[in-house]
Amino acid sequence: MAQKNTKGGRSAIIIGASSGIGEGLAKRFARSGYRVALVARRESELRRVADGINRKDRKLATIHPHDVTNFAQVPTLFQQIVHELGGFDTIVYCSGVMPPVAKNEYNLEKDRQVFDVNVLGAMAWLNEAATRCERQESGTIAALGSVAGDRGRKGQPVYCASKAALASYMEGLRNRLGHRGVRVVTIKPGPVKTPMTEGLKMPFMITADDAASQIFRAVTRKRTTAYVPIIWWPIMTAIRCIPSFLFRGKDI
Ligand SMILES: NC(=O)c1ccc[n+]([C@@H]2O[C@H](COP(=O)([O-])OP(=O)(O)OC[C@H]3O[C@@H](n4cnc5c(N)ncnc54)[C@H](OP(=O)(O)O)[C@@H]3O)[C@@H](O)[C@H]2O)c1
Repeated sequence: MAQKNTKGGRSAIIIGASSGIGEGLAKRFARSGYRVALVARRESELRRVADGINRKDRKLATIHPHDVTNFAQVPTLFQQIVHELGGFDTIVYCSGVMPPVAKNEYNLEKDRQVFDVNVLGAMAWLNEAATRCERQESGTIAALGSVAGDRGRKGQPVYCASKAALASYMEGLRNRLGHRGVRVVTIKPGPVKTPMTEGLKMPFMITADDAASQIFRAVTRKRTTAYVPIIWWPIMTAIRCIPSFLFRGKDI
């Protein structure tokens, strides 16, 4: 349940709010009256998103340029944002990267970047949120995993592994905090039209705004794990049951 804070109203911290799903979520939360703190590297894009949200008489969005791989900055920035918002109620970790990987490429530097952004950045931010939530016995912690995290795919071994790691971390947080009034929500989107998937053709693709509306519903209602759109729940339930050897050599 979202908490009213000392400034009144509700608030959300969106990490990775400068494009795609994070941008859509920032707008969706603001449409429901949340004050939103927008975090990502590109200041100009954050400003564009905030300008689209803020009105002369109603400033709901603030921007906080930050690289999530700068882990040492996180504790101070988290406290600063919470102070500005007048309290903590919701955080959604959206930052993610999926660099193209050639079929025969094994590149540790690229792999490390994926884990730094998709996993360690999430832990840096969500550990701060968890500490705060545990103390106040309330709050919502959400992160964008992916259907890709449900199985290892030959096209993107490390991206899949990063989303599996994130989902496992989120489950652990939920098991720690769920009985203390804290909600931990794992979102598993299927393909969404964003800069990350530019030029890719994939089944059941939805727009970033559509994904954001469905994710907003899942985050603000009592969901623990949500496939977005819901069609991916039966599909992934079936795919998770396929014996691993049947995947070998297949382009899935
Ligand atoms: N699109 C899909 O089909 C799909 C499907 C399943 C899951 N997802 C997940 O959904 C999330 C959002 O992806 P998207 O599709 O909306 O992609 P996107 O438009 O490329 O957005 C990625 C976001 O991550 C931020 N980011 C990347 N590196 C960062 C860094 N080092 N520090 C801070 N922020 C960083 C980007 O901001 P800056 O570049 O400004 O830093 C941007 O705001 C990702 O976690 C992705 O894995 C996407």
